Amino acid sequence: MKIVAILLAAGVGSRMGSSVPKQLLKIKGREVILRSLEIFTASSIDFDAVIVAATPPEIFKFDWKSFLLSEMPADKNRIHLLSGGVLRQDSVYNALNYIEKVFSCDERDNMIVFIHDSARPFVKERELKILLEEAFVHGASFLCSPVTETIKVKKDAPEDNKEPANNDKGLIFKTLKRDLLVAAKTPQVFRFDIIKKAMEHAKETGFQSTDDVSLLEDLGFKAVPVLSSEFNIKITSPSDIEIAELFCEKFAEGRY
Ligand code: CTP
Ligand code: MG
Repeated sequence: MKIVAILLAAGVGSRMGSSVPKQLLKIKGREVILRSLEIFTASSIDFDAVIVAATPPEIFKFDWKSFLLSEMPADKNRIHLLSGGVLRQDSVYNALNYIEKVFSCDERDNMIVFIHDSARPFVKERELKILLEEAFVHGASFLCSPVTETIKVKKDAPEDNKEPANNDKGLIFKTLKRDLLVAAKTPQVFRFDIIKKAMEHAKETGFQSTDDVSLLEDLGFKAVPVLSSEFNIKITSPSDIEIAELFCEKFAEGRY
């Protein structure tokens, strides 16, 4: 069986508001992307390839190749670099197409793919193992957490989620039943044929999403939810860097 990881690192980090994409910011002296990469390269699961979908030069100029080569020389044969797309989903699409190019049909027929946000540097080895097992048996799995806040949907807000133009701050909300909600995280793990088929279906229908399991939903494929640790945060805004600094040493020691 082939096991491949796709590490998504093509976002610009607009909510972080820094001069470089957030995956290049450092937590305790080490870049977020390197911490995320090491989840896979240092794993006891023998990943055949780790594909990094990086910011294309027209979006952010950075010598990803030299950076990865100099920082992770021991893994230079396993780390593959390609350009991501405008949306997260486009970056996944590019990586899946790349897999089709470099792996044979037989290899793809017996392949598990991990898709992971590089902005999540705190995934545990134990979680990788459970995800792999579940995806191998059931076809798809993903990390998630119970939702602790009450989630409301803005019923009369415009599609782009912007404030109403007339400056009327009042909105009509619908409140979702919290017990039924989970927050989807990554890694999200799939048999290659399943995620490829779901991606092609999304392309045909124009469906867009910020995670990968949602691409399966229309096709009736199931995904196994695996409880995530509380520390698997997605670094999004400046306060997340401070939070990450607080617990990264404990994470490295295996205490989280
Ligand atoms: N990502 C990607 N390609 C994109 C957009 C996002 O590979 N076109 C990656 C990001 O690098 C990140 C992950 O997907 O690791 C999750 O996306 P998000 O947290 O939204 O990151 P950004 O898009 O970079 O941040 P923002 O939405 O604040 O601009
Ligand atoms: Mg984004």
